[in-house]
Amino acid sequence: MAARLIKKILDGEFGSLLAKFSAQLKDNWVKIYITSSSSSSSSNSSSSSTNSTVSKAAATNAKRVEPIVQTVAPFGARTFASGTRKVTLIPGDGIGPEISAAVQKIFAVANVPIEWETVDVTPVRVSGTRLLGTMQPNRTVSKSSFFPRNTQNPDGKFGIPQGAIDSVNRNKVGLKGPLMTPVGKGHRSLNLALRKEFNLYANVRPCRSLEGYKTLYDNVDVVTIRENTEGEYSGIEHEIVDGVVQSIKLITEEASNRVAEYAFKYAKDNNRKKVTVVHKANIMRMSDGLFLRCCRDMAQKYPEIKFEERYLDTVCLNMVQDPRKYDVLVMPNLYGDILSDMCAGLVGGLGLTPSGNMGLNGALFESVHGTAPDIAGKDLANPTALLLSAVMMLRHMELNQHADKIQSACFETIKEAKYLTGDLGGKAKCSEYTNAICDRIK
Ligand SMILES: NC(=O)c1ccc[n+]([C@@H]2O[C@H](COP(=O)([O-])OP(=O)(O)OC[C@H]3O[C@@H](n4cnc5c(N)ncnc54)[C@H](O)[C@@H]3O)[C@@H](O)[C@H]2O)c1
Repeated sequence: MAARLIKKILDGEFGSLLAKFSAQLKDNWVKIYITSSSSSSSSNSSSSSTNSTVSKAAATNAKRVEPIVQTVAPFGARTFASGTRKVTLIPGDGIGPEISAAVQKIFAVANVPIEWETVDVTPVRVSGTRLLGTMQPNRTVSKSSFFPRNTQNPDGKFGIPQGAIDSVNRNKVGLKGPLMTPVGKGHRSLNLALRKEFNLYANVRPCRSLEGYKTLYDNVDVVTIRENTEGEYSGIEHEIVDGVVQSIKLITEEASNRVAEYAFKYAKDNNRKKVTVVHKANIMRMSDGLFLRCCRDMAQKYPEIKFEERYLDTVCLNMVQDPRKYDVLVMPNLYGDILSDMCAGLVGGLGLTPSGNMGLNGALFESVHGTAPDIAGKDLANPTALLLSAVMMLRHMELNQHADKIQSACFETIKEAKYLTGDLGGKAKCSEYTNAICDRIK
């Protein structure tokens, strides 16, 4: 129904100015819609069985673990059998390989029962049928034209290697290091591509003050939940005439409902008290208005969770004045990107902040920082954000004891402050900090 509506709008209501771009728009919009509608039907069919699993796991978590790394499996996500499980590892660019190696070392010392399946996501040229972040089948990939030689080509015809896609589809869970995105040219963001490819619709970033690591703020404990697949990052941009470009902010009821439901469910399962929807519906009445309406409707289904609505600018102001005003925040894509980095700053910076991208068919956990090219290859990076992302992943897989052990060792090492990396004011190398955590686990 919504697909028909979108098509109607595209067919009938674009004026002559946009006519020459309508084919591209139609293609992109319908692709995005098809992506979300096919996922939603699979979620509906499996929701009753998985919801009970989610509640049970979350109830166990609530008794035993620190909130900073809690998560909740999305509706339709896979549940995990006991025994050794395979996890996809994307080491990433820049400092990615160093911090991934640190996580692997700590996991090995902690005897975590997982086997890493390391994959490379260096973009490959995609022949015609499938571009970055689209969901068309029958893609063929030629390995002959590798990045970076072809990144000068701004047509976006680069994709994630099929091997990496197959690995995540098989394992349903992955850990990802940061990936470099060229600015203004070359291949499009692989981070966006991965989110679209696996329909990772909710990005969850817990930000909590670490005991023993002093910042301007004490007692920060907020969780940002960001819509991850559309909004300002839909990637629908075009030039109308010379010197005039247009970028489309796409908001759909389906994706908004999905992330709103995730936020309320997260709040409920993690004993959180309040969900705040962050928006600018006073200015963007239709797009943010729709997002807001979906959150309001969802709030009705969770009367035990307090619900409030706040403008983005107000939240930014209040957050730096008194972060204790907020608990769980849910918002469209761009606002979430910015606000979650700001929240990371309140608790000590990007080097400490984990995140999880939760999807219908899998979950990908990643640190929120980038590739840090200025310190790459120098053994100076702080692996904490990726390590805590990996701990979030363990909780998602219901490996809570291993998660607890690693998390405690990490927090105690930071509290002791003997082996802190440069970003936290210390002098330790990444390897020294990693070894200090390992020593506590042994
Ligand atoms: N999720 C992702 O994959 C992701 C996120 C953000 C940026 N990026 C990409 O990363 C590249 C560099 O981006 P940027 O420079 O804007 O941001 P950045 O996060 O890489 O670096 C910002 C600053 O923080 C420091 N820093 C970041 N992570 C650190 C860590 N773990 N330990 C110690 N210091 C750390 C860096 O040294 C730098 O001074 C770009 O290509 C960008 O597109 C990727």
